[in-house]
Amino acid sequence: MPSDLLIQTLTGKSVLAGVFGWPISHSRSPRLHGYWLRKYGIDGAYVPFATHPAKLEQAIRALPALGFKGGNITLPHKERALGLVDEATALAQRIGAVNTLLVREDGTILGDNTDGYGFLAHLIASKPDWNAASGPAVVLGAGGASRAVVVALLEAGVPALRLVNRTTRRAEELAAAIGGPIEVIAWDDRAAALKEASLLVNTTNLGQAGQAPLEIDLATLPVAALVYDIVYTPLLTDLLRAAQARGNPIVDGIGMLLHQARPGFAAWFGREPEVTPELRSFVLGE
Ligand code: ATR
Repeated sequence: MPSDLLIQTLTGKSVLAGVFGWPISHSRSPRLHGYWLRKYGIDGAYVPFATHPAKLEQAIRALPALGFKGGNITLPHKERALGLVDEATALAQRIGAVNTLLVREDGTILGDNTDGYGFLAHLIASKPDWNAASGPAVVLGAGGASRAVVVALLEAGVPALRLVNRTTRRAEELAAAIGGPIEVIAWDDRAAALKEASLLVNTTNLGQAGQAPLEIDLATLPVAALVYDIVYTPLLTDLLRAAQARGNPIVDGIGMLLHQARPGFAAWFGREPEVTPELRSFVLGE
């Protein structure tokens, strides 16, 4: 007899949500939401959908007819999903991407973005005395993840944001689209950009398992500056290891994933979920 951990029988009343990605097999979101559903004893399911880009519109449009409350959008669909929802929140529009869908009572679909929220909520949970106004923030990368991080930091009140990207044009486009006190800095000048910074964030995929290493000289970074890497495979990246060795406080990347899931879960399943050390271990597969 398998343990009841392995048995899940859905009923006609089950509350349903899903996640669309291509591929979807390495998404940790089903594990994350599955943990909360079980913990809170909710009759519901969170279903991973391997959705080819050519089928994304059809797949999203099917949610109301199937009785789904909503879901998540993951790579590579987040930007396109913005144009496929009936309405997008101002925040999703500013970030330029949707990661959370809500099916409303009238069957229309609202797109939101909780990535920036997750980034900031994890930062504040990890370092409650962090003060956004304490100095310039340096953000490495100008891709999709960077946009959510940049918007979150500007809304939190960082006085200046130095945006460093290999492709300068991409950083300039991001700065122009988002606005605010953003200074674009060339990738080769990244070490000098750390001077007097109070926060360094890596939003590139450098340092991730299977990717090139992130090479950056931390010598000019103040020792009080917080170093946050949104890469979470491995959890302790070379950047975080180097920062820790010289005495900088560090924030790892897994908490951003955990916290970005909270607003969606609460909206679909009607319960505010908690981020706990047990959840973190479970999602990491420890
Ligand atoms: P995501 O949506 O996860 O942010 P992305 O949009 O592909 O992914 O962005 C990846 C980021 O990592 C970009 O900032 C990219 O720099 P470019 O805009 O110049 O492509 C950065 N990146 C990837 N490989 C890199 C490398 N070898 N050196 C420097 N930056 C790199």
